[in-house]
Amino acid sequence: VTAGGTRAPIDPVRFIGNRSSGRMGIALAAAAARRGAEVTLIAANVSLPEPAGVRRVDVETAAQLAAAAEAEFPETDVLLMAAAPADFRAAAVNDGKLARRDGLELRLEPTEDILASLAAVKTGSQTVVGFAAEHGGDAIGRARSKRSRKSADMIVLNDVSDPAIGFESADNAVTLIDSEGEIEVPIAAVALGATVIEKH
Ligand code: CTP
Repeated sequence: VTAGGTRAPIDPVRFIGNRSSGRMGIALAAAAARRGAEVTLIAANVSLPEPAGVRRVDVETAAQLAAAAEAEFPETDVLLMAAAPADFRAAAVNDGKLARRDGLELRLEPTEDILASLAAVKTGSQTVVGFAAEHGGDAIGRARSKRSRKSADMIVLNDVSDPAIGFESADNAVTLIDSEGEIEVPIAAVALGATVIEKH
């Protein structure tokens, strides 16, 4: 399970980030562990504790997330790609702290699509699940084409235009999309699991 949002550094003290909290990935890791799976959580800048019994690998950048996911993938039965890796990184990271008076012009370059790269090499016994945070409009249509474009077995669609189920909210409602069709999962609390509480 990957969770959280990656950071793309600009200089030693600044980064470009996103609003993913990691709650969804942690809830998935807790649920999988409760069902008896051996779970590795690859956590990108997640401040929440991992569920009991889950192995945690911390990463910061999209490149580190890609490397960690690639390393784990050969031994993985199911990949739940709930993290929000940055789509862009600074083409050059400044060695020293940039000063305001010097101004700042950033050139960005795209990062690797981790989900698509791993789905492209998956075997018949591996299942790859991607996530799509879409903002209104034809969210289902876009998520469906995302699933086939990235060769994922399933896409979990989350409409982030609704603040009740958007980023950092404690509740979520999703649509599961696979080659056979869609299943609506109604709004529910994103349970981080009794396992989290037991740990403390
Ligand atoms: N993802 C990934 N590597 C990236 C970006 C996203 O593996 N560099 C994964 C996310 O973990 C998630 C899914 O892809 O499972 C989300 O895809 P999304 O970012 O919505 O798709 P994009 O390729 O950015 O498509 P678009 O910008 O057209 O919406």
